[in-house]
Amino acid sequence: MRPRFIAVVTAVLLLTLPAKAQQQARASSPAEEVQKWPKEAVRGSKAMVVSDEELASQAGIEILKKGGNAVDAAVAVGFALAVVEPAAGNIGGGGFLLVRMADGRTGFVDYRETAPARGSRDMYIRADGSLDSAAATVGYLSVGVPGTAAGMELALKTYGTMKLADVMAPAIRLAEEGFPVSEKLARSLRASRPLLQRFSTSRRIFLKDGALYQPGETLRQPELATTLRRIAKYGAAEFYRGETARGLADEMARMSGFITLEDLAGYQAKLREPLRAKFRIRGEEWEVISAPPPSSGGVAVIEALNILQGVDLKSLEDTQTVHWVAETMRRVFADRSAYLADADFSHVPVRGLTDPRYAAERRATIDPQRASSSEQIRAGNPAAYESNAGGELETSTGAPEPLRDGQTTHFSVVDAAGNAVANTYTINNGYGSGATVPGGFLLNDTMDDFTTQPGVPNKLFGLVQSDANTIAPGKRPLSSMTPTIVLRDGQLSFVTGSPGGPTIISAVLLSLINWMYFGMEPQADINAPRFHHQWMPDELVAEFTLPEAVRAELERRGHKVKSVPWRWIGQVEAIGINPKTSERLGAADPRRSGAAIGY
Ligand code: DON
Repeated sequence: MRPRFIAVVTAVLLLTLPAKAQQQARASSPAEEVQKWPKEAVRGSKAMVVSDEELASQAGIEILKKGGNAVDAAVAVGFALAVVEPAAGNIGGGGFLLVRMADGRTGFVDYRETAPARGSRDMYIRADGSLDSAAATVGYLSVGVPGTAAGMELALKTYGTMKLADVMAPAIRLAEEGFPVSEKLARSLRASRPLLQRFSTSRRIFLKDGALYQPGETLRQPELATTLRRIAKYGAAEFYRGETARGLADEMARMSGFITLEDLAGYQAKLREPLRAKFRIRGEEWEVISAPPPSSGGVAVIEALNILQGVDLKSLEDTQTVHWVAETMRRVFADRSAYLADADFSHVPVRGLTDPRYAAERRATIDPQRASSSEQIRAGNPAAYESNAGGELETSTGAPEPLRDGQTTHFSVVDAAGNAVANTYTINNGYGSGATVPGGFLLNDTMDDFTTQPGVPNKLFGLVQSDANTIAPGKRPLSSMTPTIVLRDGQLSFVTGSPGGPTIISAVLLSLINWMYFGMEPQADINAPRFHHQWMPDELVAEFTLPEAVRAELERRGHKVKSVPWRWIGQVEAIGINPKTSERLGAADPRRSGAAIGY
């Protein structure tokens, strides 16, 4: 709760200061802001919820205190974020929910969006052969068939104990009665005005018809409340076949979008086996449980941890360690670019890519002293560790728009019994496609996560991706979302995940390294400087908190270091378990004032 508390106190102080003093107060430097970050995690002896928003974390706690388990609480948080964090929380998008029950069962609910039936490989290619990236990122053509309602219901039915209507009650209340707009939300809505004002319903609901919401004002969302009520009453089928479906399909038809009633009726959330990999680190047995395709995250994180096995990692502020990890990221992202896609549509060599022997081959290509050039580093060949070969490598070096202040949102929940949920979901860019349907919810622009034109980096994240990730009806676009749960000697140890497009993979990997290798206190783990390399473009993006001496030495080794003040890498919302006391340690990321609540 502390980061949120600090944010609230800061906002109150700012509002009560005279104008000049306000300007001075706001002018605190990034470095000063970092000094104010909490130094320790929030502690709870029984349970913990960590999300981007205090009201959503409270919704989870409310359900836990009513006797719900971690999955009941997670579904409550998911629906609550759809109300209080409109940039990313959603019912108009999709995501992944990873669960590990205290009895050892694990599951992965894939509720990623799908391409509509009219979607095709060249749907964003103009007559002159160029890519219409605006169509892939803004408005009705950029929308994938939403999966959240189906995913939440599937998770609840499979692992929860409560009724949908009960876990949705906090969200319905928040939508109906409204909630005070935070400084963060007011700033985010203002920043997204150019996008939101292009769509009349978005303009009315989220921009107050152009007047903008000020901090402290109440945001009520009656249309969304009505939609949520219907889902609570009739189940997710209502979203896909009922009045909500009809409203969405009508709006699509009116605005020349592709999604039809048939697309909605055909949507299915899927239960998949999570990826699992074991590591022996400093005498302890660790198991990482993470996201399978259509996420690239679990493969990337496991491949990276395999490559780093046997490397002498000291600290993520030690140049030699950063060099190893950055070179590892470079190779993992080259592999992502070549091989990862929706495995329901083509073979993805998951086994080969996550094989420690393949990792040893990749490790052998790293010069411990000099940065490689991404031009020369290509995807490896995991086929030797796999029965089938993967796809062909596409290369390009188009200019990306990395680390934009877009949104996705991750939350972690652990209950008193030790059940754990890591959930990451998204509408892709902040406020998604910008379009809000009459049902009161924003639609995603996740179609941009496909390979919109082979060989050309995607618009929002500059990712070069393979032919296997091109658009086809019913296919899920490749994702970087990486909800992850870690066991230490067979016991629940760490729950983590992040937003941030491709930087999700780096942020999650760094949080795992800090936890498993360095035994860091969870808040210190989350606060620590982050860096990211995605192979193309060939640059090592680092938060400005990375010590200057480290940056200089990395540059001397040939890394093209790009510092990103105020442009954070990830927003990790994690829970660590104290192995001796079983205490739940909630580490909310202070970069965008997350909220950990425990008891
Ligand atoms: O699933 C993905 O990989 C992306 N659509 C996630 C987008 C994202 O994290 C944007 N947030 N910062």
